[in-house]
Amino acid sequence: MSRHEPFTFQANSELLKKGRELGIEIPFMDSAAPLFENTALGSKNLPNRLAVQPMEGFDANNDGSPGELTFRRYKRYAEGGCSLIWFEATSVVSEGCSNPHQMMLHPNNMDSFKQLIEQTRRSAQRAFGSSNEVFLVLQLTHSGRYSRPEGKPLPQVASANLYLDKKPEDVRILTDDELDHLQDTYVGAARLAKDAGFDGVDIKACHGYLVNELLAAVTREKSRYGETFDNRSRFISEVVQKIRDDVSGLHLAVRVSAFDGIPGGFGVSKDNPEHADLTEPMELVRRLIQFGCSLFNITAGNPYQKPHLGRPFDRPLEGVSLPEQHPLEGISSLINMAAEFQKGFPNTPFVGTGYSWLRHFFPNVGAAVLQREEASFIGLGRSSLAYPDATKDLMNTGSMDSSKACITCSRCTELMRHGYESGCVMKDKEIYGKLYKRLAIKGNKNEERHN
Ligand SMILES: Cc1cc2nc3c(=O)[nH]c(=O)nc-3n(C[C@H](O)[C@H](O)[C@H](O)COP(=O)(O)O)c2cc1C
Repeated sequence: MSRHEPFTFQANSELLKKGRELGIEIPFMDSAAPLFENTALGSKNLPNRLAVQPMEGFDANNDGSPGELTFRRYKRYAEGGCSLIWFEATSVVSEGCSNPHQMMLHPNNMDSFKQLIEQTRRSAQRAFGSSNEVFLVLQLTHSGRYSRPEGKPLPQVASANLYLDKKPEDVRILTDDELDHLQDTYVGAARLAKDAGFDGVDIKACHGYLVNELLAAVTREKSRYGETFDNRSRFISEVVQKIRDDVSGLHLAVRVSAFDGIPGGFGVSKDNPEHADLTEPMELVRRLIQFGCSLFNITAGNPYQKPHLGRPFDRPLEGVSLPEQHPLEGISSLINMAAEFQKGFPNTPFVGTGYSWLRHFFPNVGAAVLQREEASFIGLGRSSLAYPDATKDLMNTGSMDSSKACITCSRCTELMRHGYESGCVMKDKEIYGKLYKRLAIKGNKNEERHN
């Protein structure tokens, strides 16, 4: 029987009791103080340990430059107070875009990214004083199997996967030459990101996209990029080293799915793909630190297959059944996974994820995780869309307004899956509630807007 339940907790004691019933220990403390300890990241002195997680908005202009809603979103984040803002998945090539309105950075639109960065830093300073610093990371990606540059699927995969590919012989596997060339494209994008004013870039290696899939490419034969761990980790290792050597002064980050949770995925136990085996992910991180990475963001799951592993929710996407797992079990396993890395590599900062389901209890849980030194930053994804001012409210009043919290209804993802601009349908109604209504009224939930 499914243990899944929606969030119903009024008091701390109820949340902790549920944890005990499920046989898991939820870190918890009454004070949120550890969230507001200063910390240094590179040359920046940051006022808190809260991060906005990367969240695609599907609202870039046709040339990949940030659109009006993109500017609005990052302004809200900056005014909200998180000190680390991890900018959303931004494609390095047009054919690797997840949708026709994904951001893409290239020499012709670099100035618009510069403006986005300037606006973000300026907004944070206006809100919190001229000495306020924020650390800005751009997530670079190729959507691989989930590329839809013109709205229709254009899968380009790292290797055939018997679980994902109904007809493995039909999938288009990127060649070694293409991957060699793509490495240089990542380096070029990193250089542009540096010039635009970002503090760091993330070589996205999560959620089933290309670089994540390469890490699991055991069935990719006769290739520099397949079968052995050395080969499977070659792409990201070489990209990181090239950026380190060619783009000075740029911080290198990686957001990695430490556990894909699907057969043939990265970080899964050979005996049971439902269980994690972090041996390879830990070795990957050890090598990447050696190659110059100084920041990691630990996540899990493939959102197209097992969304509950990476983003525990109350209500699933339409057509997706409820998981067996209770959301608290999902959160606990994300917390424990990040803890394993942070404990294993105590001198490198790790961002933890999956906190939005906890609503107004996230500060208590996040603070306890920080106090135990089981993460260096607490990352907020859907919560940042619903309630970007949560950090500011915590800072000013010591508490959050529970009526503004994300209710993990999955409608932000639903908008995105239908090719609409993505945001919080429930708490940012003026824009996204209207878009969602349009989606529903048109009765076109099975259609792609950008087809
Ligand atoms: C609408 C939407 C867009 C997302 N876009 C990205 C993205 O661009 N890059 C990424 O690494 N994760 C992305 N994610 C995952 C989030 O960063 C985060 O890992 C997830 O929502 C779990 O954190 P939360 O519980 O705080 O929401 C996205 C999630 C959602 C719901």
